[in-house]
Parts: sequence; structure tokens; C-alpha cells
Amino acid sequence: MRLSHKAKTRRLHAPLKGGRLTLESEAETIALGERIGRRLKPGAVVLLRGELGAGKTTLARGLARGAGYRGRVSSPTFALAHVYRGKRLTLHHLDLYRVARGGDSELGLDELLADPRAAVVVEWPDAAGGAWPKDRLEVTLSHAAGGRRVVMKATGPRARTLQSSRITK
Ligand SMILES: Nc1ncnc2c1ncn2[C@@H]1O[C@H](COP(=O)(O)OP(=O)(O)O)[C@@H](O)[C@H]1O
Ligand SMILES: [Mg+2]
Repeated sequence: MRLSHKAKTRRLHAPLKGGRLTLESEAETIALGERIGRRLKPGAVVLLRGELGAGKTTLARGLARGAGYRGRVSSPTFALAHVYRGKRLTLHHLDLYRVARGGDSELGLDELLADPRAAVVVEWPDAAGGAWPKDRLEVTLSHAAGGRRVVMKATGPRARTLQSSRITK
């Protein structure tokens, strides 16, 4: 069933309280990222889970936009980390696909997480074991009928501010 433009807009701008959404296109994934990105504050941590091609980098692209970054956002699989200095906020984008469990010392994760002006978004976060702060937004993406399904879980008050408020343009 195709939704009317109006219904679609309403759906995309609904509160994210339930933490479940379907995203029918790449543009919708970016729009969701942007909504969350506009609310990111220094110290915020967003973990992105899902298989290859699930849309993690696409969502990170939206987060960077929401942080006020206008440059290119590509997969950091080979670089492991990119930094986007947005107008509003600096965003560190990590992709730990190739990092063996426990091999996070070289990444300087502690330094990234201690950066007082930055938020952090991580693809394949489980490669770093239990290194992440307790309060984080956990986003899981999966393929669903041509689009993507998203389940979001905030594990603390800081992350809940990213998820639960109604956000409009
Ligand atoms: N909601 C969506 N519906 C359909 N395709 C999407 C959606 N979100 C992202 N994509 C597409 O999925 C592909 C893989 O996305 P990517 O973000 O690179 O995945 P990952 O980082 O999880 O490997 C891209 O071609 C992107 O355009
Ligand atoms: Mg990726």
C-alpha cells in the first residue's frame, strides 16, 4: 500500500517513543538520521547495528547533516573513523567491521568519547566489546520488503532525549 504524501509526512514526524519505524527509501533513512542528529549533544553515543547493507552508513549521513555538516559522508570501513566538523557539533563516525573483539586500544576510543565537543556514532559497535558508555541510543536496522525496519532503544536519560520528543522541521 502506498501512503499519500501527507500520511507519509505525518508518519515520519510522529514521536519516536515506540522506537519502531519502517523506512521506505534511502531518503527516509537520511531524514530519520537528520531528526536525531539535530538533537545530538556533546557526549551523545549512537550505536548502529544491522547486517551489511542495512543502512547504517546512510543513517550516519543523516546524523552528520543534523549536526550541521555539509560535506561528504562515506563508509569509514577502511579508515575505521571519520570526523565531521559540523556547524553545530563535531561527530565522530566509527566503523569497527574489521576490528577484532578487544582490539579497540589503537582506536583511542577513550579519547574520542572524552572529546567535550563531540558526539559519536558507531557501526559494528560490538567489535569493541563493552567499551561504550551505559547511556546510549541503540539503533538496529534490517531489510524489510524493499525498505528497512528500525528498532531504537535508549538505555539512559541522555539517549532518551534523542528518541522521545516530537521533532518537526
Ligand atoms: N530505507 C531504505 N530503503 C531502501 N534502501 C535503503 C534504505 N536506507 C538505505 N538504503 C540503501 O541501502 C544501501 C546500503 O546502505 P548503507 O548505509 O551503506 O548500509 P550499511 O552501512 O549498513 O552497510 C544503500 O544503497 C542505501 O541507499
Ligand atoms: Mg556502513
